[in-house]
Amino acid sequence: MNTLNLHQAPVLVVGAGIMGIGIAQVAAQSGHHVLVYDSRDEAAALAKLKLAESLATLVAKNKMTTEAVQTLLSRITPVTHLRDAAHVSLVVEAIVENLSVKRSLFQELEALVGEHCVLATNTSSLSVTAIANGLKYPSRVVGMHFFNPVPLMKLVEVVSGLQTDAAVAQSIFDLAGAWGKTAVYARSTPGFIVNRIARPFYAESLALLQEQAARPEQLDLVLRGAGFRMGPCELMDLIGHDTNFLVTQSVFEANFFDRRFTPSLVQRELVDGGLLGRKTGRGFYSYPGGAPALDDSLTFTLPATAQWVLHGSGVVADCLASALSRYLGSKTHSRVLGSNWIGIEVEDLQLHLTDGRPAWQVAKEAGLKEVVVFDELPAVSDGALAFACAGSEAASGIASAVLHALGYAPVRVSDTPGLVVARTLAMLVNEAADAVLQGVCTPEGANAAMKLGVNYPAGPFDWLDRMGRTRVLAVLNALDACYRGERYRVSPWLQRPV
Ligand code: NAI
Repeated sequence: MNTLNLHQAPVLVVGAGIMGIGIAQVAAQSGHHVLVYDSRDEAAALAKLKLAESLATLVAKNKMTTEAVQTLLSRITPVTHLRDAAHVSLVVEAIVENLSVKRSLFQELEALVGEHCVLATNTSSLSVTAIANGLKYPSRVVGMHFFNPVPLMKLVEVVSGLQTDAAVAQSIFDLAGAWGKTAVYARSTPGFIVNRIARPFYAESLALLQEQAARPEQLDLVLRGAGFRMGPCELMDLIGHDTNFLVTQSVFEANFFDRRFTPSLVQRELVDGGLLGRKTGRGFYSYPGGAPALDDSLTFTLPATAQWVLHGSGVVADCLASALSRYLGSKTHSRVLGSNWIGIEVEDLQLHLTDGRPAWQVAKEAGLKEVVVFDELPAVSDGALAFACAGSEAASGIASAVLHALGYAPVRVSDTPGLVVARTLAMLVNEAADAVLQGVCTPEGANAAMKLGVNYPAGPFDWLDRMGRTRVLAVLNALDACYRGERYRVSPWLQRPV
């Protein structure tokens, strides 16, 4: 197929559910005439009515004019037979997520539409290669994966199966751009980009919950401190544990039960118990209340005469230096630039930035009685910062007071490798690195996909730059050494020399 120009082409959307009508809206907004078909009687007409209602609220809020709404709606035509759409140049399928149903729809469509009509699927988890199997022209089948809600979410993954023509993928890439979206190329592999790379965001917190290392509200607080809009537990409660568990399970199964993607027993129990999150009134939290507040009362105050020593160099050490200068004002602190660890020493207590090792191990290897390990520094001011202490309650109290003095909200968790944020970020980086290794996407594609598809504050390769390859590898290796299994195996892409 030569490069196709789909701009202004008539479009058929099949499936008038939540995604289909959103896709129809976006296409019509960009000037396309859009036909909408659904196998349920009246579903397409009803979906258009509902769209009209929701657009009317935008007019009431002065976000759209009446004329713009009328023009948009005039471009959307519900049809009752697929044959009414034989002339279209593009079909976007958004029907039930079932391989055999999608396959038979595409076979039916092939008998109706012209030979150059592009057949796009909005599947979120099925193989584009498999959907195209059995078609006369499988090269015209491509994934056009939108995110929910379609009018608001900027990302479209353009997914190529084994037989997808590059020109077809490019025409969809260009079209998504014309519709105001950011398109990212992906190869058809389980979870594509976003649903695959995002797995550890949930999985690491679920693993920490399973070993009782922290409470849901603590995990949410520190990951929000890292810049995520929502913590993993509140987000799973919002998505619904049934949906989130299904996606994890499908990625696990599609990867031939690679233990790296093993679903969580903690989540399965919530699903089994019907505690699906907000929609059932209870998940990790009870609603409408949501997460309980943390008791952050400090039990220890630092003496004014305390001696402060800053250890190490690099971005994190420099952040600590600024925080320390803010706290100490005109008083000075000493700094050991050549130290082999990054952190702070106060009153003989060392607080180390995590390199993946638990505090007890750091203490043992350094020959110290007590050591505190703290997490990746927060990205937001007053952000929560997890720490763990190998030592006395007094040491933990000092650590808490030190972190508080530096402007962070200390959250004590169990002494676990890579604590919470460093562990989660390292695993997101690791998954993204494997996706790049396997040709699923480029590093730039992964960054854009995670920022636009799930609103991450940064892309995995931005975090890799920020944390540095050495520390990401150290955290992953420490996790691998502790848990010994497939889950934390380090991507060969990360092990290569830069
Ligand atoms: P939905 O259940 O809201 O809508 C599906 C619609 O397809 C229904 O109206 C149904 O009557 C219709 N339908 C079913 N079989 C049909 C057939 N053979 N021919 C014509 N119409 C048929 O589902 P939703 O959420 O809109 O999902 C649609 C597709 O989009 C699925 O493949 C899903 O995986 C994918 N997707 C969903 C996202 C979401 O957040 N809901 C996000 C991204 C992709």
